[in-house]
Amino acid sequence: MARNEQPLHSRCDVAASPSAVRSGRRHAAEILAKWGVAETVAHDALLIVSELLSNAVQHAAQPFDPADDLPDPATCSLLLWLTENGLTVSVYDADRRPPVPRNAPTDAERGRGLHLVDALCEAWGYTHSSPAPGKLVWARLAVRCAQESPSGQRSLEAAARPAASSGVVMSA
Ligand SMILES: Nc1ncnc2c1ncn2[C@@H]1O[C@H](COP(=O)(O)OP(=O)(O)OP(=O)(O)O)[C@@H](O)[C@H]1O
Ligand SMILES: [Mg+2]
Repeated sequence: MARNEQPLHSRCDVAASPSAVRSGRRHAAEILAKWGVAETVAHDALLIVSELLSNAVQHAAQPFDPADDLPDPATCSLLLWLTENGLTVSVYDADRRPPVPRNAPTDAERGRGLHLVDALCEAWGYTHSSPAPGKLVWARLAVRCAQESPSGQRSLEAAARPAASSGVVMSA
């Protein structure tokens, strides 16, 4: 991305229900395609979207409304952010408890999500939000500037994993 190019960002709010993952993935797929993110990079980003949204739905506590005795379907937010430093996938939920990778045995059925995220991205973490009450869990896929192509398009190649050979192409 050129120095004077604006970062690209998107936000999608979804109810913290089982359909959140499908909605979030669909939204992210559309946005990453619109931004010209290469398929292999988008593939990794979509896996991360799935894991972080699943966690927000499954583990984040739902606010309880004593008026109707039913949990309020809280809102999660999926944020995508593409800058010259990388593609960041973030999920906000209203629970302040942090994500904690589990030491799951290799044959365990659960406890793999954050390990998968860790393997796919350059860095991940969480930050408590303010004034909103919850937290933002984020994962960054690295991209690095490559030479301009003869057509004048700038390309950003994924550098999240040494073996990655795919790229992100930003149209001017
Ligand atoms: N958004 C979140 N809010 C609160 N706690 C979380 C959140 N995300 C993860 N955690 C905690 O971190 C633990 C590890 O998450 P991880 O995604 O690795 O495993 P899992 O969700 O338990 O299982 P799997 O992802 O394999 O279905 C969870 O069991 C949960 O205790
Ligand atoms: Mg999980």
